[in-house]
Amino acid sequence: MVKTTVSLIKADVGSLAGHSIVPKPLLDIAERRLSEAEETGLINSHYVFHAGDDLELLMTHFKGENSPEIHELAWETFKAAAEKAKELKLYGAGQDLLKDAFSGNVRGMGPGVAEMEFEERRSDPMVVFAADKTEPAAFNYLLFKIFGDPFNTAGLVIDPRMASGFKFEVLDVKGHKKVVLKCPEEMYELLGLIGTTERYCISRIWRASDDLIAAVSSTTKLSLIAGKYVGKDDPVCLVRAQHGLPALGEILAPFLHTYLVAGWMRGSHWGPFMPVGLKDSRCTLFDGPPRIVALGIQIADGRIASEEDGKPLIADLFEDPAFDLARQEALQLAATMRRMGEFQPARLGEEAMEYTTLPQILKKLEGRFEPA
Ligand code: F6R
Ligand code: MG
Ligand code: MG
Repeated sequence: MVKTTVSLIKADVGSLAGHSIVPKPLLDIAERRLSEAEETGLINSHYVFHAGDDLELLMTHFKGENSPEIHELAWETFKAAAEKAKELKLYGAGQDLLKDAFSGNVRGMGPGVAEMEFEERRSDPMVVFAADKTEPAAFNYLLFKIFGDPFNTAGLVIDPRMASGFKFEVLDVKGHKKVVLKCPEEMYELLGLIGTTERYCISRIWRASDDLIAAVSSTTKLSLIAGKYVGKDDPVCLVRAQHGLPALGEILAPFLHTYLVAGWMRGSHWGPFMPVGLKDSRCTLFDGPPRIVALGIQIADGRIASEEDGKPLIADLFEDPAFDLARQEALQLAATMRRMGEFQPARLGEEAMEYTTLPQILKKLEGRFEPA
């Protein structure tokens, strides 16, 4: 059976009035490019949206993961949008396009990627997460709750198809290594790793009983590519739902509450993760708070299930009063954190700050220190 690939590729190529929101002219360019690619048959379907200042290209196709053609389409689309951003003198135009020449894959060039190839089930619901003002490891907590925590996911206890648990691939972004750990047997070791969000990041999850791919997350660390702070990595993640996988509601349940993630203001602060609908997908207060959108889609015969005219059917999942509590908590916590100003733990630890502009400031004091 032919396999379907879902590719979500994103980049910040310029935004309106600072690092806030992707304006319509850029979205229009992306929409036009992907519509053309759909007409030529390169991709089967697409949806263009934005998470704060990040332009998000959601595509389905039959080319597999890491397809040079699909990556080139995304790269060229970002370049065209960046040109427009430069013309309008938008802020940070071309920011995430870190390399000049495209070499077959956008990984390591700035954009973030989450891709998943699979044989479609009878019905294949999926949740697409996209976040702004944070880093890929922000999903560690979310993904552990969904696939590892029986207090969140009742199916781990009740559904026999999930009884053997899930396997988590964890990337060591500093050591350039990866390891697979299985839950529930290795839950404590897994938590030992993924709790260290500065270094470890969940990249893939499979159902243990049959290695069915269940989730993928982007893992780009822009600072490690560029050697300095060049904006946050603003991650994306794809999660399949239902029928022996966590239910849609179990995937969303972690957002009954907020939790703290790294990357707020200047990539230098901890901030509360705020789930929002697409209409609120913009960063404002102290360049945030870090926001996340969740889109529900159905994959059908290689496409995002759509209306008659081809318009994709999108469920804007956080556009719902059920997430008001998390939003309220996020604002309360934002107020608490901001009262602390530049004092830890509101600000990130010393090692993470190495990649920001703070070392330039501290360097000026070097000569004034005396032995004590
Ligand atoms: C960007 C971000 C923002 C900027 C901040 C300063 O992803 O997180 O908080 O770091 O707005 O931006 P510059 O230095 O471009 O003025
Ligand atoms: Mg930005
Ligand atoms: Mg961003």
